[in-house]
Amino acid sequence: MRPSIFMRFAVLVLVGLVLVSAVEAADRDKLLSEPGVYGTFAAFSLDADWEKQDQAMRIAQLTVLKGVVEQHREKVAIDLYLLRGLSDHADLLFRIHATELRETQQFLLDLQGGLFGKHLTTAAIMHGLTKKANYVPAFPDQLKADLKIHSEPGPKPYAIVIPIRKSADWWGLDQDKRAAMMQEHTEASLPYNKTVKRKLYHSTGLDDLDFITYFETSKLEDFHSLILAMEKVKEFPYNRRFGHPTLIGTVKSLDEIIEVLAQ
Ligand code: HEM
Repeated sequence: MRPSIFMRFAVLVLVGLVLVSAVEAADRDKLLSEPGVYGTFAAFSLDADWEKQDQAMRIAQLTVLKGVVEQHREKVAIDLYLLRGLSDHADLLFRIHATELRETQQFLLDLQGGLFGKHLTTAAIMHGLTKKANYVPAFPDQLKADLKIHSEPGPKPYAIVIPIRKSADWWGLDQDKRAAMMQEHTEASLPYNKTVKRKLYHSTGLDDLDFITYFETSKLEDFHSLILAMEKVKEFPYNRRFGHPTLIGTVKSLDEIIEVLAQ
């Protein structure tokens, strides 16, 4: 008798639990909140051969994926997103936070070198660094206080990644001129702070970008309105590249990704 998909999945989960208990997880909270952490966004497409394999073969390869992710979670924080169905750029997105970029490199090498990785084609890899706020310290106290009201709790199933490059004119402006425009940016975007969670990565010198902006929300309509509001502020025309690609997907656990890909 062939084992059911649920039995196979249960074995997969068990393997995962053994691996998790064997390694000590990286301090995820610190990696996701502190400055001086490298954030890498690695998007991949699955090749046509993936679908042609039978389910048992796919499950065996997904077990390898699980092992690689769990093993590297000892040192780096790994988040997964399903882009398939929503994006024509890629099927899967990994967001990796590490104190050393070479640890991220090792994870991606092991991922691509494994049985599952043989089916992956790289769609985009972008790097950035988290930093202390540059402009906020000089903002009026009320604005600073308003910014501290964080997004509403509860699930935010959608993730959006927008890479940005600014013009040389922007970088040539005095700090106070840039600060004034960033204050306008903040005031215009503040109404969306409750429903849109954001994270900023500085990429200058690490990539052909200046920033990677990352957002999570349950209300895509709010996100759409937020971007329209951004487009009206004086800072916006200094963007030389906005998106290209814009990546949109859903936040998933490793087991959820495995379940989708095993079907
Ligand atoms: C919830 C809505 C948002 C709020 C409250 C917000 C607020 C802020 C604040 C306070 C800063 C300054 C950080 C510092 O002091 O260094 C900032 C920077 C930045 N934001 Fe936003 N933002 C929002 C949405 C967006 C969106 C939708 C984009 C573009 C897709 C964006 C792109 C950027 C970029 C690129 C920077 C860095 C600018 C620079 O340093 O030149 N933000 N944002």
